[in-house]
Amino acid sequence: MKFFVDTAEVSEIRSLAEAGLVDGVTTNPSLIAKSGRRMAEVIEEICAITPGPVSAEVTATEFEDMLAEGRHLRAIASNVAVKVPLTEAGLRACRVLSGEGTLVNVTLCFTPAQALLAAKAGAAFVSPFVGRLDDIATDGMRLIADVVAIFRNYPQLKTEVLVASIRHPIHLVEAAKLGAGVATLPPAVIRQLLKHPLTDRGLEAFLADWRKTGQSIL
Ligand code: E4P
Repeated sequence: MKFFVDTAEVSEIRSLAEAGLVDGVTTNPSLIAKSGRRMAEVIEEICAITPGPVSAEVTATEFEDMLAEGRHLRAIASNVAVKVPLTEAGLRACRVLSGEGTLVNVTLCFTPAQALLAAKAGAAFVSPFVGRLDDIATDGMRLIADVVAIFRNYPQLKTEVLVASIRHPIHLVEAAKLGAGVATLPPAVIRQLLKHPLTDRGLEAFLADWRKTGQSIL
């Protein structure tokens, strides 16, 4: 399973990349706003850190404007994946941009039918949102199970399922069990994945015993 990082904070991405945990990055207009920086500058910096796809989202809502924004974003770096919303204009833009060889991530997917449409439009990625469905008392992981099952029935569809709106480690583990190809994770969730109290306690005990030996490895 590929791990994308869901943030526009360059320092976070850099330190996670150094640990080998970054196969790509996703951003959205809210994350760019939170960074307080110019979008083009942030995307360019992120693209230089990771060779993997870096999603940069259009903010236009009309087809022609989306296309222009998508081409502009794609020109920032060769690993930019243009993110478009799951609207009719978004799917049209997806089809054209994908035809030009640009990776497109169709975002804000909340039903299996929407995911199928994104795949038919040639998306490289479709982003079903788990946490936001859970927020409205709808089983977000059911959506992932359905999309993965549908795509498995049609191997000619090359779209990868990019599990988005992940809020905690259980979302990630369940998505991995279902066989989703990619998960995008906020940095805080990636750090939660590696924490376990028995790891901390075990390490403390090993180091205490080691100190008693008076030895040093170097
Ligand atoms: C995906 O690409 C989105 O940026 C993100 O996962 C949305 O997550 P949220 O629902 O926690 O905002």
